[in-house]
Amino acid sequence: MSARPKILVTSATGKTGTPTVLQLLEKGFPVRAFVRQLDRRSEALERAGAEIFVGNQYSITDMRAAMVGVTRAYHCAPAAPNPLYYYAAFTAAAYEANLEHVVTLGQWLSSADHHSPMTRVVYMGDLLIKMRPETTVTTINVGWFADNYMNGLEVAAQLGVFSMPLGDGNVKKNAAPSNEDIASVAVGALIDPVTHAGKTYRPTGPELISPNEIAAAMGKALGRKVKYQDISEKMMLKAFKALGAQSGASNYSESGVYQIKLYADEYRRGAFAVNAPTRDVETVGGRKPESFESIVRRYVAEREDLKPSFTGKLKAIAGFLKILVTRAPDIAAIEVQKDFVMLKTPKFCLDDAEWRETHEPTRVKSIAGQAG
Ligand SMILES: NC(=O)c1ccc[n+]([C@@H]2O[C@H](COP(=O)([O-])OP(=O)(O)OC[C@H]3O[C@@H](n4cnc5c(N)ncnc54)[C@H](OP(=O)(O)O)[C@@H]3O)[C@@H](O)[C@H]2O)c1
Repeated sequence: MSARPKILVTSATGKTGTPTVLQLLEKGFPVRAFVRQLDRRSEALERAGAEIFVGNQYSITDMRAAMVGVTRAYHCAPAAPNPLYYYAAFTAAAYEANLEHVVTLGQWLSSADHHSPMTRVVYMGDLLIKMRPETTVTTINVGWFADNYMNGLEVAAQLGVFSMPLGDGNVKKNAAPSNEDIASVAVGALIDPVTHAGKTYRPTGPELISPNEIAAAMGKALGRKVKYQDISEKMMLKAFKALGAQSGASNYSESGVYQIKLYADEYRRGAFAVNAPTRDVETVGGRKPESFESIVRRYVAEREDLKPSFTGKLKAIAGFLKILVTRAPDIAAIEVQKDFVMLKTPKFCLDDAEWRETHEPTRVKSIAGQAG
């Protein structure tokens, strides 16, 4: 393996792709950044020293071209429709290019029989990329990003409410990692394949936090009181449909919203809290994981629109009224229209023995021991 080989980063203008590119460049690795289009985000990556490749991740022709002259890759599949298609394009091109090492961004929930078709594809994608023995693989099964909460910052800033269907406000259910900390684990594995080949990591933030603590951290960062409000899933779905781009959720397609509904269900069930926090950001990424409050402070510092204002408040109230009058997306119709592959007996993670075995082996063994 060459000392500083060129590394391909897919979804390079995305949440984890961008910090992965920047951290690799900082460490002196040449990077080819796979972007969908040229814009100010790709220009920033180019200014930082990345080679820009414009292409479509659904296209095997583009994937083949992107892999010419690279030996390692970060595969971050976009959360977009027909996921099996871009997993297949990436995997086939990686085989042909004889990549030596691939780091894939998977999911904490990744499991064979999950309710979510996207999660099942992530699970199968992980199996497929591992089938060529000459290519080593590191899997990063990350949970609910800290970034996901930031869609609620505008309403928190203007109305003092953080609304999400996360269940009981006091229960600590997620140790949310920052995009940069997730990227640090990807980078650790990309630059040292020998140590990280065949491993699965689950980067998290430093501690489990409850919805009330999330609201409190937002309040501190915004300089006002913010209260958590547990809303129904229906209300969340209405909000995505009503606000779309306005809520910062421009890429939420109907199939995306369908998955998020299932992930919110997993959140309330406590799947993201199993064996969390982990030490992967420290041990693989080589840095201390960032606290949730520090993450929110960074987002707030970057956004002018979060300053309390009369027009900001009016906009937030108008958005709220729009949500109330919006009809909720019809989940059953989405399943049919999107032609989702449905299973007869799908499982949530905590009901899945294989998932439990890989996430909390000690507990599973002790339960088995008690039974015996
Ligand atoms: N959010 C979570 O809590 C969470 C948790 C676990 C796992 N994940 C996984 O994270 C992954 C997404 O990673 P991320 O959040 O870092 O990415 P992201 O921010 O969603 O960015 C996706 C990137 O891919 C680009 N893209 C979309 N479609 C493309 C196409 N057809 N061809 C080329 N580029 C395309 C987008 O470009 P444009 O912006 O130009 O469209 C964007 O830069 C998913 O696989 C998801 O399963 C997310």
